Amino acid sequence: MNQKIRIGALISGGGTNLQAIIDSCEAGEIEGEMVFVGSDNPESGGLARARKHAIPAFVVNYGAIIRNFKKEPEKSVLPDDFNLQDALSKQSLFSTDDDLQKIKAFLITRVLAEAELLKQIEGYPFDLIVLAGFMRTLTPYFIDRINKDPVNPRIMNIHPALLPAFPGVDGYGDTFRYGCKVGGCTVHYIDYGEDSGPIIGQKAFQILEDDTIDSIKEKGLKLEWKLYPECIRLFAEGRLKTVKMSYELGSGKKMERTVVKILPKPG
Ligand code: GAR
Repeated sequence: MNQKIRIGALISGGGTNLQAIIDSCEAGEIEGEMVFVGSDNPESGGLARARKHAIPAFVVNYGAIIRNFKKEPEKSVLPDDFNLQDALSKQSLFSTDDDLQKIKAFLITRVLAEAELLKQIEGYPFDLIVLAGFMRTLTPYFIDRINKDPVNPRIMNIHPALLPAFPGVDGYGDTFRYGCKVGGCTVHYIDYGEDSGPIIGQKAFQILEDDTIDSIKEKGLKLEWKLYPECIRLFAEGRLKTVKMSYELGSGKKMERTVVKILPKPG
């Protein structure tokens, strides 16, 4: 029998995806166990779900960390191993036209919180981190400390839209307002950009004339609860392989992208 993978989750809200993953582990559909649940938000309903299943849970209060930095920046101590220039050169969350001071303040405040996150998760060895409704952007500082082997990424996210359309904080709302006739959800690995990493799986639903933002959220979430466990199961089975692909576009322009290949089930 395969050994179970150890999964850590980061959440911000109600945690229905977290619940779907815990249930799939407990039902044996994923050869895995949830080893910690962390939240940036002390009010997150998902924390109670974790405790109910006796999973260690903790909060890193991003809001308080960011407020404290803004009030008294000199009192915030950055981790010794943080290099601002390295983070600036790797990140692709902001364009180079954006205000550099703002980008720096963003990275510094997130790294202050991420250093706390890293301290918290140190005690729980894990194979995979799943972002399950985690509404904070991870910086290269955190990502590099989790993804030690670049060909084997270890942070997954679920996004409420058919990426690469509608990255950002309101995927279903943006899909609806744009007038799309199909919506969906995407599970992908995290990279240095916003919802831009290699896609692992997607599911789609029809948007009908009488749909509202609420009804498409409902349709989408039901698919998320299937999609996320399916993708984690593939990870647990060792069937996700990242491959660097090079393409020449019609315009003659070259494009490079890391994509996920799903390997067949052995045997
Ligand atoms: C889900 O719809 C998830 O796709 C979305 O937040 C919701 C969390 O619900 N995530 C994002 O928007 C990430 N940028 P949940 O707390 O009930 O799992």
